[in-house]
Amino acid sequence: MKSLLPLRDALSDWLTAAFRRAIPEAPPGPPLPVVSAARPEFGDYQCNAAMSLARDVRRPPRELAEAIRSAAEPHPAVRSIEVAGPGFLNITLDDGALSGLVTQIASDPRLGTPEAGRGRTIVLDYSSPNVAKPMHIGHIRSTVIGNALDRMFRFLGYRVIADNHLGDWGTQFGLLLLGFRHFADPETYERSPIEELERVYVRSYERSKEDPAWLEAARAELVKLQQGDPVNRELWRSFVEHSLREFERIYQRLGVRFDLVRGESWYNDRLPEVIRRLEEHGLVRESEGALVVDLSDDGLPVCIVRKRDGAYNYATTDIATVLAREEEFHPDAVIYVTDERQQLHFRQIFAIARRLGVTTRLEHVWFGLMRLPEGTFSTRQGNVIKLERLLDEAEERALALVRENSPDMPPERQREVARAVGIGAVKYADLSQHPQSLVTFTWDKALAMDGNSAPYLQYACARMCSVLDKYAERHDAAALDAAPVVFTDPIERRLAVLLVRFSETVLDAAAAGRPNLLADHLFELAQTYSRFYQTLPFLRAPEGVRESRLKIGMAVARALRTGLGLLGIETPSRI
Ligand code: ARG
Repeated sequence: MKSLLPLRDALSDWLTAAFRRAIPEAPPGPPLPVVSAARPEFGDYQCNAAMSLARDVRRPPRELAEAIRSAAEPHPAVRSIEVAGPGFLNITLDDGALSGLVTQIASDPRLGTPEAGRGRTIVLDYSSPNVAKPMHIGHIRSTVIGNALDRMFRFLGYRVIADNHLGDWGTQFGLLLLGFRHFADPETYERSPIEELERVYVRSYERSKEDPAWLEAARAELVKLQQGDPVNRELWRSFVEHSLREFERIYQRLGVRFDLVRGESWYNDRLPEVIRRLEEHGLVRESEGALVVDLSDDGLPVCIVRKRDGAYNYATTDIATVLAREEEFHPDAVIYVTDERQQLHFRQIFAIARRLGVTTRLEHVWFGLMRLPEGTFSTRQGNVIKLERLLDEAEERALALVRENSPDMPPERQREVARAVGIGAVKYADLSQHPQSLVTFTWDKALAMDGNSAPYLQYACARMCSVLDKYAERHDAAALDAAPVVFTDPIERRLAVLLVRFSETVLDAAAAGRPNLLADHLFELAQTYSRFYQTLPFLRAPEGVRESRLKIGMAVARALRTGLGLLGIETPSRI
């Protein structure tokens, strides 16, 4: 039998079949969308398709909705379907079916989530900081958001190629090489390479503004580097390695791993070929000595692909990158995660790629600004270090929280838990917001034990584990497997519906590139669970009800643990 999960898709198939039966002459189209009911009084799910289809099939919407309803065969998961308002179809689930679904979810590590991406490949381009420069907040958000998407896609069965597209090539290396020779302090460079490289760069840059000879010398260094001069190559390699070592420290703390770390330099040899292909397609023209691609047909400004001095740029590299990725991985999609300032860049790249015959789906997931606590990133220098301080502070604050909550926990364990809570809090503060909104980070919000925060969710999960432990001390935990789920209170039913929606939410969050959809869902689940936990007895409930409540709780804990895991957040068994 076909699984009923994700239920939303099953309901959509069911109503689509009813629609086809009701209006056989309707032209073929996509399945009728079913969504979560906007409000509980509308049932559990709803379908609003009658309104949009009405015109196509020349029927008044309400009459069409009625026709679909009458043509619908009985569905094993549906108690009733009603027509409401101008033509909404409101669906209420059957309690018996719901109970069966919760039982299934409670014992399924995937919570009924299909491997929708099996056999498909996604190249995910995220984090991508620039060598010899501190990560700015855009890179950090890209790392956290990109990694959550990475985890979700993998969970959905996609083959993900996470590529950290380092900015390791470009004109800044001329000034850097020259500056390094003159101003670098080897000891500081060993100790904090990025800070030292940044200092050297700034000094070299400033000198270049007042000293044309310096600028000339920097250009010469760049040309030497690009022509493969062994000394400059070696220095450049050291900049990349030292920077990566520092970035790596952060990735480790954040639990982030890449499949590829191919910087821009990796594509360097392919740049002339890009120009050749653009020429072959008749896409380039000369403009004031530079080579540009005209994109006015797409309503976009021209894109420079070779500068007047013959140098290639960021755009040229990204065209080469897209071509190489398509050729090497045959992906179904390439997804780029960066801040909002690169929207135009990617629109141009995607438009050019199309004209070169790239058919892969290309997507730019962009996000807005985030304000961090005063002083965290306010100066130009040492931002990587400051990010590490932010993480240190998160762990320190979390430690205070853990000590207060669990004074009897061994100190070693307290520190471990504090790490999971502190890092989780920083990530969740980011992931729980719509990526494209302006986010203001505050410690109070990030660590609020009673609000939409990682510790709150982690705590809900840990609390459930302890109830289970207590149950197991007194009863045979194996009895839970066979116990049916019963609904004696509306909260139990509400939790069941939320559990059924877990898989749908993961699918939506991944498809929309919005981890906050999953975070919202987990928060609603945890809040509802808290009400459940505070208002209804668990261990002291009558036999049968007790087992049912535990089973619902187990499924909730699994959803929280799995969901937080997809956001890259750990769930310690105690807090
Ligand atoms: N290094 C770039 C920056 O810091 C981000 C790279 C994003 N990925 C890409 N394929 N362009 O702005």
